[in-house]
Amino acid sequence: MKLKIGVTVSGAGSLLDAMIQDGLPIGIVVADRPCHGLEIAYKANIPIRLVDRRRYGYKAGGADFDRPGFTEHITRNLLEQGVNLVAMAGFMTIFSPWIFRHFRGRIINSHPSLLPDFKGKHAVFDALAAGVAVTGTTIHIATEQLDEGPILAQERVPILEGDTEATLWERIKQVERPLYPRTIRNFSTTV
Ligand code: GRF
Repeated sequence: MKLKIGVTVSGAGSLLDAMIQDGLPIGIVVADRPCHGLEIAYKANIPIRLVDRRRYGYKAGGADFDRPGFTEHITRNLLEQGVNLVAMAGFMTIFSPWIFRHFRGRIINSHPSLLPDFKGKHAVFDALAAGVAVTGTTIHIATEQLDEGPILAQERVPILEGDTEATLWERIKQVERPLYPRTIRNFSTTV
């Protein structure tokens, strides 16, 4: 099957940029909010969609977010574009289980810690706060459970004296930028 990747973003998009530089076949980039990642995709002439989660009732701390509706909208965009592999690249909204009906085993995520340690959205901060000497990155197949699923690649990153969340996260990303595209390539030959 010819590989067509759908990338989901919420932020700076530097992992997306690394995938583009690598020449991976990206069919669409979807964001859950206006973000720099969408601009990177637009400049690279990749089709983009903004499925703003606020339109589905998302509010920080709020309870009435229509997560199923939001997830179905994104899933529809990915399917319409003929995507057969989804790569989350700094995507910050948890999907409802619906997406796994269509893409089970075909959604990959890069997470900035050595899973199963430090799951969740504050992984870099939590590693610093825990005082561990080493953290890193994990690339894994996503499942309904947050930051779980079969691990495809892991790389360690030492925590240095004086590290802040920002300096440590940037060093982790420097490892992720080559590792994520390489892992996607290897994985895509097996599906
Ligand atoms: C990466 O560290 C990734 O592990 C995490 O979000 C970050 C994305 O960075 N899930 P960017 O937006 O691609 O620069």
